Amino acid sequence: MQHLSIVTASLDIANLPSICLRQKAQDVPDEIFPETLRSIIEGMVFSLYSAGGVGLAAPQVGIGWRLFLAMERDPNASPMVLINPKFVDMSEEIEEGREGCLSLPGYFSTKVPRSKVVKVEALNQVLEPVQFEVHDFLARVFQHEYDHLDGILYTDRLKSLEDLEATRFAEERARETIEHLYARPETAPQPDM
Ligand code: NI
Repeated sequence: MQHLSIVTASLDIANLPSICLRQKAQDVPDEIFPETLRSIIEGMVFSLYSAGGVGLAAPQVGIGWRLFLAMERDPNASPMVLINPKFVDMSEEIEEGREGCLSLPGYFSTKVPRSKVVKVEALNQVLEPVQFEVHDFLARVFQHEYDHLDGILYTDRLKSLEDLEATRFAEERARETIEHLYARPETAPQPDM
């Protein structure tokens, strides 16, 4: 199975127009070869599972098409495939909640505002039209992934980047790096000369 690498951005460039993550994706064309579509979806599913995420949009793997995967937090759930999605209705009721992004590793926020319910129209993985409503967690994943299709990151939805937190993993990595650096004097950084 082909593994599609996830494009990541460091926070420094999250607000700059970086390729893919900041571009508006185009509709998947009607005339797409079913095999091409299937292989992209399979690659994305594989990448999503490998990364342990709950959603992945095509621009995150460098593909500028309006296509995303989204799933419930349940490890037994399988991802839904949405192609050329449109939100036909979004609840006015907004809830702040936790989000991270595979393209911005090491960070999350608990203050990302999203509609609690969204009604979506899309094509499924075999290009049949579907329409349904999702709530709460899944509605949040849908909105996060949909944003990726428009080049928007969850960090853009925060009132302030102060609402961003480092994951414990990122903090541990940073501490390990420091400890490693100073545990072995021969590798300690030398002052500039
Ligand atoms: Ni994301």
